[in-house]
Amino acid sequence: MISEALRPAALNCLLLEGIHASAVSAFEAGGYCRIDTRPAALAGEDLMEAIAEAHFIGIRSRTRLSDAILARADKLLAIGCFCIGTNQVDLEAAARRGIPVFNAPFSNTRSVAELVLAEIIMLLRGIPEKNAVQHRGGWMKSASNSYEVRGKTLGIVGYGHIGTQIGVLAEQLGMTVLFHDIENQLALGNARQTGSLAALLGAADVVSLHVPETPATRNMIDGAALARMKPGSHLINASRGTVVDIEALAAALESGHIGGAAIDVFPLEPSGNNDDFVSPLRRFDNVILTPHIGGSTLEAQASIGGEVATKLIRYANTGATLSAVNFPELSLPHQRSPTRVLHVHRNVPGVLAHINDVFSDAGINIAAQYLQTGAQLGYVATDIEAELDATYLERLRTITGTLRCRILTT
Ligand code: NAI
Repeated sequence: MISEALRPAALNCLLLEGIHASAVSAFEAGGYCRIDTRPAALAGEDLMEAIAEAHFIGIRSRTRLSDAILARADKLLAIGCFCIGTNQVDLEAAARRGIPVFNAPFSNTRSVAELVLAEIIMLLRGIPEKNAVQHRGGWMKSASNSYEVRGKTLGIVGYGHIGTQIGVLAEQLGMTVLFHDIENQLALGNARQTGSLAALLGAADVVSLHVPETPATRNMIDGAALARMKPGSHLINASRGTVVDIEALAAALESGHIGGAAIDVFPLEPSGNNDDFVSPLRRFDNVILTPHIGGSTLEAQASIGGEVATKLIRYANTGATLSAVNFPELSLPHQRSPTRVLHVHRNVPGVLAHINDVFSDAGINIAAQYLQTGAQLGYVATDIEAELDATYLERLRTITGTLRCRILTT
């Protein structure tokens, strides 16, 4: 349990895995000077030693923060995943210790959308095949199977952050946009939601997948789904590797039913740049293969660095947890009172009453109070019109169910 009013200059930030310099700039601008940056991931005893002193840890996908590692993180206030995914962190174990985890869910959205847009044009012009043939010394000068995208129909499966961006960009090129989503989504521009996945597959010249990995999306595009697609149409997958049955796609490309594909994500991906890429798709000239780089641009990296660092700083300075992935989300206004008390507890009955009893016994007036609860946790921020004496702080810390109590002073 941590209860402290530490100033930025006293907080240790450990940034692993070569996190972009934009994160360091954001921390420095916020008055944080104890920043330890490391180019690679840490593991085992090295990670335990380093995390024991850290108030913040920034990681990307290669550092595993397990329950055992977090058990050594006595000072840790918050975790920043400088990426999209958070499954490298035991989120439940972090929550149990009152540690919020932040990530950057939208920082690379535009990068994926731009790549997909380029792929739509390349596929409809038959460029992948022409490019491959020419690299082998051939010359494929022909207009056959080469189309403008203007007037063609794009089918977007999963109309979330990326899907909507692509829809807007594709309309600028004169495409008709259809989308399928399990939720009723607000259609942007002239896009239209289809009643079913089958309706979309049967109508689109290009199908682009932008769904998350869930049991429902596993092999969503299997042999039967591919058979429903228009003859000669194209498939793009820059979502998750499990969404497409790759063997079925290879068969549909072999038969010519699918005219081309652009695949960025695979059911099994090499673990590093020195490993071989094994896939039945390698033999097709009309398939664009990319190594899961849909969101990998320098702009996205810079944006991720700034976005996650800003969330960590805001949490440290104000207690705000908006967009935390494992924590009740509190958006907090600027602190006007001398003291803000941040109390994280197990979500059991009576804790708020006990907290307020402490303020009442101390004769302290509450200026504002903000509470948010999740299934496991309760998080309450209380702005009080006085400083809090150590005795009362100790009482807050020992309320049954308390995980953390921290105070911020102006
Ligand atoms: P998002 O959460 O904003 O949108 C996903 C959409 O899919 C939501 O509208 C949701 O309602 C819909 N959906 C969920 N299950 C569905 C189902 N069974 N059928 C139809 N629709 C369903 O996600 P975002 O940010 O747009 O990302 C989409 C995908 O792109 C994710 O899988 C993400 O992991 C992946 N991604 C890939 C990158 C790459 O480098 N290739 C980079 C960034 C994201």
